[in-house]
This record gives sequence, structure tokens and C-alpha cells, in this order.
Amino acid sequence: MDLEEDIRSLQLDSAAEDINGVVNPEDEKPDVDKMDEDPKQEVQAQSVEAEPKAKVKEILSVQDEEDEQMKKRHLNVVFIGHVDAGKSTTGGQILFLSGQVDDRTIQKYEKEAKDKSRESWYMAYIMDTNEEERVKGKTVEVGRAHFETDTTRFTILDAPGHKSYVPNMISGASQADIGVLVISARKGEFETGYERGGQTREHVQLAKTLGVTKLLVVVNKMDDPTVNWSKERYDEIESKMIPFLKQSGYNVKKDVSFLPISGLMGLNIKTRLDKSLCSWWDGPCLFESLDSIEVPMGDPKSPFRMPIIDKFKDMGTVVMGKVESGTIRDGDSLLIMPNKDHVKVVAIYIDENRVTLAGPGENLRVRLSGVEEEDILSGFVLSSAANPISTVTEFVAQLQILELLDNAIFTAGYKAVLHVHSVVEECEIVELLQQIDPKTRKPIKKKVLFVKNGAIVLCRVQVNNVICVEKFSDFPQLGRFTLRTEGKTVAVGKITAL
Ligand code: GTP
Ligand code: MG
Repeated sequence: MDLEEDIRSLQLDSAAEDINGVVNPEDEKPDVDKMDEDPKQEVQAQSVEAEPKAKVKEILSVQDEEDEQMKKRHLNVVFIGHVDAGKSTTGGQILFLSGQVDDRTIQKYEKEAKDKSRESWYMAYIMDTNEEERVKGKTVEVGRAHFETDTTRFTILDAPGHKSYVPNMISGASQADIGVLVISARKGEFETGYERGGQTREHVQLAKTLGVTKLLVVVNKMDDPTVNWSKERYDEIESKMIPFLKQSGYNVKKDVSFLPISGLMGLNIKTRLDKSLCSWWDGPCLFESLDSIEVPMGDPKSPFRMPIIDKFKDMGTVVMGKVESGTIRDGDSLLIMPNKDHVKVVAIYIDENRVTLAGPGENLRVRLSGVEEEDILSGFVLSSAANPISTVTEFVAQLQILELLDNAIFTAGYKAVLHVHSVVEECEIVELLQQIDPKTRKPIKKKVLFVKNGAIVLCRVQVNNVICVEKFSDFPQLGRFTLRTEGKTVAVGKITAL
């Protein structure tokens, strides 16, 4: 059976849901604001444990503050793609071009990279901040950084490409609204990433499952001597990627756009390409493309849900996460689920700034009273008290089996690791309920005892500890998941009943 066929048939969310597509603006050039005025700032990317050093804004009135906070949209953008495609380099370049890293720091990184015999890696050092990452030249933890354009505040989530770190990539992608898929155009590198087992494929399929609705495919390393801004190479990559992206469930016309760049040289990123370098590209640069992506946001009026990805002590208990639905305000009384701990919101921070409220899509640090840091685990969910998130140890889900290890069979008793929003939990399939024909999408009447690669099956899933989830139809982001075994994604699914 063809893996791509299988994934297409899952259609976790229909491309038709998204009314807004990626628009390629004609001529407007974005004027990129400098987010940070401190020229000496060295390390821009932060790991998730960043400290909330808050600059408390003067708050005039709640209404003014609401207006100000709602003015510029916020988007989480995850950088995905095969190992060494240039994700960190491109992320670093974006920060450099948006004025957040000074020349002196770049020179320092150039020297450090040279000392480690990794000359060309200096741009990636902006995102890859720990020693292991710099020595090996591979991202391990999801790097985080911020920049903004005229219309949008972006959080970059720089995922690792190496297959050992797919769980980290999953956690990055599950927080993202849009994805930048970085592909290396260098001879042989596109091919390796695109092969079975290559992370280009796995990342695309995971991103779609995890709710990344829009993709910007950047064909990188166009400056490489084996490419030299060749239109043929660019077209070849685009034409091979399009059918695959379609099969992965993306509506290529509405949800995907392509552009050539050089992350290392910083070309076609903040400003458009010079015709003397590349005569055939007439389209937008990366900043323009990012600016014009439209994403439907969660409902600010629906019940509040923020999965917790991290927590620490800082004048009380601080939790971090992305708001998936609803609005949080200073002083709110909320629940931490599944433990039903009653908490009060003491302060809310977006980046370094204290705010009085925040809505869907925002990455927050929230200081709480009424709970100890030790009593919170990642995967817990900060929830509306009146309408808290559901808690379960068992649920019914529609699963799409991708590739089982050694073509094993999938049956009751199968154990895997469940990844759903920020939850990572051992699970067991306790019963197969019904098989669904991937072609007609109709249930197959015959009783099902086992299925193989490519099957779609409704089953009952059990976890040892109570987890917070929702039905996919109510809160897609909190009801879609992946199953992994021995470091490989074996199935993707959506929760259909609790
Ligand atoms: P992982 O984090 O390990 O998945 O890799 P990555 O995708 O973040 O790649 P990274 O940015 O670390 O770059 C890998 C190598 O590709 C480095 O040697 C970069 O200098 C090189 N590279 C990245 N972008 C470009 C580019 O635009 N042109 C050329 N010629 N080389 C590039
Ligand atoms: Mg990297």
C-alpha cells in the first residue's frame, strides 16, 4: 500500500475549512520593525525555560490596553524539514536582518564556528544556543525567537531535523499556526530528505496532523555551487513536492506557497531578489510571504484552554503555554486540569511584556497563585473554571496507521506513546471497533481483529494516567494526536468520542 495514499485518506481537517489562502502580494515591501533596541543583545533564541523578566507596561485603561494588545496579530511559525536543510541558519538570518543581532555578535559566532571547524554554521548559532548543538551542528531543543513585521508579531520555533529528535519537533509543531518547510536544493540533499525515512516527508505529515494549516515551502541553498539559482532545479523540487503535499492533505493552491532563498547569504528574505542574480523569480520575499499568510484564529469567546508546556518558580508559580481557545484576563479564577486545582491569575506576560489579557494563538507565561510548581506537570491544562477541559483515561479515536515497525500487525494490546498537545503518555489500544475503507471512507461491516499498514480504524485507546483532551470536532488542536513506537511515528489520529 502506498503511504501517501493512506495519509491523504485521513484528511484530519479538510482543506476546505480554510477560507483564506496564502496571498502573494504584488509590490508592497514590508517595513520591518526592530523589536529590540538593545544592540548588545547576544543570544536571541531562548529555550523554553526563559525567565520572565517583565517590563510592566503603563496601563491606561483596560479598554486602551485591549485595543493595543489586539492590534497586531501573533503567529507561531515552526521551521521544519530534513536535517541540515538550513532551518537554524534561516531563522538566525531572519533575526539578523530584522536588526536583532549586531555585527559584533556575528563576528564572535564566526570565530566560534571556525574554532569548531564549522565555518558555515555561524548563522545557525543564533538559534542553536547550547554547546552540544554548536559542536554537532544539529538542533536538539526547539529554539524560540521573536521578530515582527508591520502586521504581525512572529514567534519562530526552530525544530530539529534529525530523526532522533522528532518528539521535540512534534512539540514545536503542536504549538505552531503556520510552518516554514525548509528544503535544501543542494545536489543530493533534496533527494535524501524526500526519500522514505527522510524527515521532509515525516515532518510534513506530522505538521498537517498537528494542525499546521499553512505551509511556506522555502527552497534553500539556492546559492550553492551545485544549484546556482537554477530555475530547473527549483522547478524540479516544486513539481516533486506538490503531489506529495496534496497527498499529505494540504490544499496546495490555498494553503501552500513556494519561494527560493539563500538562508546563509540572506537572499530573498527581507528584500526581494536582485534580477541580476536571479532573473526568473518575480515573486515575493520571505517576509512578504509570511506577512500575507492568513490563518483562522481560535475563538476568543470560547472556554479558556491553555496546555502547559513548562513551569517554574518565580515569585510564585509560572506556567508557560499557548492559548488554544478563549481569553485569559488578570484576576481570572481558573482550574488546572486534571487535578482541579483552583488558581488565580496574578500576571500575564507576552514575551517580556506584561499584559492584562490575551487571546487564542498567544504564547504566554502566566503567574498563578493557589498552586505549587511541584503540583503541575507539562500536559496539564489551564482551563476555564465554569467549563473545564475533559479528563479521561480512555477515548475512542479514528486512527490512520502509517508504517508499523517491521510491518507488524496492529491489534488490541498494541502499545505506543501518545502525543497530544503537550501530553506525552504511554497508551494501549484496547479494542478495535471498526475498520473504515480508505477509498470510500465508509465503515466496513466485517468485524475487525487486526489491521496493517495503511488502514483506517476506529479504536478504543487507554492511558495509565488521567489526561486532558477534547473531541477533535470541538477543539481540533486538543483532539488530534500521533502514536509513536521506538522513535517512529506509526499512526496519526483524531479523538471522536470521550
Ligand atoms: P538541524 O537543526 O540539524 O535539523 O539542521 P538545520 O536545518 O537547522 O541546518 P543548519 O541551519 O544548521 O545548516 C546546516 C548546514 O547547511 C550549515 O553548514 C549551513 O551553513 C548550511 N546552509 C544553510 N543554509 C544555507 C544556504 O542558504 N546556502 C548554503 N550554501 N549553505 C547553507
Ligand atoms: Mg537547526
